[in-house]
Amino acid sequence: MRVILDNLSKAFQNGDQAPVEALREIACTIEENEFLAVVGPSGCGKTTLLHIVAGLLCPDTGRVFFEGSVSNGRPQTAVVFQELALFPWRTVARNIEYGLEEMGLEKKVRKKRVKEYIDLVGLSGFERMYPHQLSGGMKQRTALARALSLDPLLLLMDEPLSALDAHTRMLMQLELSRIYEKTRPSVLYITHSIPEAVFLADRVLVLSPRPGRVKAVLTLDLPRPRTERIKVDPKFVSYLDTLWGILRQDGKGGTWGSI
Ligand SMILES: Nc1ncnc2c1ncn2[C@@H]1O[C@H](COP(=O)(O)OP(=O)(O)OP(=O)(O)O)[C@@H](O)[C@H]1O
Ligand SMILES: [Mg+2]
Repeated sequence: MRVILDNLSKAFQNGDQAPVEALREIACTIEENEFLAVVGPSGCGKTTLLHIVAGLLCPDTGRVFFEGSVSNGRPQTAVVFQELALFPWRTVARNIEYGLEEMGLEKKVRKKRVKEYIDLVGLSGFERMYPHQLSGGMKQRTALARALSLDPLLLLMDEPLSALDAHTRMLMQLELSRIYEKTRPSVLYITHSIPEAVFLADRVLVLSPRPGRVKAVLTLDLPRPRTERIKVDPKFVSYLDTLWGILRQDGKGGTWGSI
């Protein structure tokens, strides 16, 4: 699927306070099968952008166009929200199963798919736990499994690995790139981690501090499949340097989460 973001702007009204301008004139295309990472300072409108693409928020100006979305049974879109949005009354397994039920898959197929993705995100043994019984990272892995198991044409992810420890995060990055290379959805991936963006993506979109504008788009000429070894490739290191350079120009313009 090709997704065209055409001149998107969004401001929020907060009662009698001055409006907050979150996004200004965002123009960019997520190409068919492309992995596009978005980075930018906290509060610059990344989540707002993802919510607009997901159809959950209306932009004040501009539109989102979806092209070539013949699905052949694959769902159009799956989302991993920053707030995760797990169903508290459903277990880990039943949360993951939810979208598969909506797709109308029969029980046997659903159970098999759920098991596959529970193994993949390392949650075996926790199938029957409820969200309140999980750590933050485990909840995040449940939300990730729920979205990935749908095998959508467009995958929207908002900091899906931010709550994981460094080791698990590295393993999940490898799994994510492996799944992406196998199923080739179009991806919009928000992260605070520059190395993660460069490791996973085909291009990185850098947003300015609020109001978020397109500050730069960096195309990454790195081979796939991505492996750990790519992190010592001189090109990988130079992309990190370039992105840090672009972000440093913002000076005190924003705060950053974990790198
Ligand atoms: N529903 C809303 N009502 C009012 N203001 C909002 C709403 N959603 C977002 N905002 C404001 O819009 C701006 C952008 O928020 P957004 O959540 O998109 O940022 P972000 O880049 O995702 O930040 P972070 O990296 O911290 O997740 C912020 O100033 C926020 O306060
Ligand atoms: Mg956000």
